[in-house]
Amino acid sequence: MSRRRQVYEGKAKILYEGPEPGTLIQYFKDDAIAFNAQKRGTISGKGVLNNRISEHLFTLLGQIGVPTHFIRRLNMREQLIRQVEIIPIEVVVRNVAAGTLSTRLGIEEGTQLPRTIIEYYYKDDALGDPMIADEHIACFGWASQEEMNDIADMAVRVNDFLCGLFAAIGIRLVDFKLEFGRLWENDYARTILADEISPDGCRLWDMRTNEKLDKDRFRRDLGGEAEAYQEVARRLGLLPEGENIVLDLDQHRQKKGR
Ligand code: TMP
Repeated sequence: MSRRRQVYEGKAKILYEGPEPGTLIQYFKDDAIAFNAQKRGTISGKGVLNNRISEHLFTLLGQIGVPTHFIRRLNMREQLIRQVEIIPIEVVVRNVAAGTLSTRLGIEEGTQLPRTIIEYYYKDDALGDPMIADEHIACFGWASQEEMNDIADMAVRVNDFLCGLFAAIGIRLVDFKLEFGRLWENDYARTILADEISPDGCRLWDMRTNEKLDKDRFRRDLGGEAEAYQEVARRLGLLPEGENIVLDLDQHRQKKGR
């Protein structure tokens, strides 16, 4: 095993010290956790697929001028990223009613929203990531007004871009979660997109059949999680013809007798 210093371990990723100051290595695990850690499991090959999907989306977002922490993918499960100070707010963008919006407000899942909604949640596992308003963010100083303006602008840009990108491959972007960080340059902090964008933190529905191609398959015990993630990667053109990460990993495990 590597002797790199682990900086942080989250539910789906581990961060290690990077090769240069100001960099980290982001390692994608197969672990899946839902409902504030009440449901745990593994999705075989998820880490490999999320690493590639997030690399692809962050690269494209970088190309349209959205600043991100992504530097480059290093191998199957790892990518090199810029070290940022994570802003403790989860930003959820919704285009279609689903999940907690539907349960909280009694709006049928699948209802197209007349306008995009941006919601904020306070990143605190012990509190179960409660939904918060701008007022709480300002009151408790979790982000400045300038940072919140940047975050809202970027969330809208990311949403517009990703909606088009996914629509072109027959996928409806129902909702997704973003995280942002502060990149310190001397005394000035720039707000940049951090974390990952993958089927772990998005709702992605097949446009024709409404089939779920995301982590709801795990949350709702629908089965076929790995195949769904792989289908997203395949439609994004990230799997060369015939490549089957889920099957390859299974065969590799069987050969090693575990
Ligand atoms: P929700 O309907 O459960 O509030 O989730 C909305 C979207 O945001 C869904 O795609 C899952 C994602 N999300 C996360 O990935 N992590 C989180 O902590 C939260 C609150 C949402």
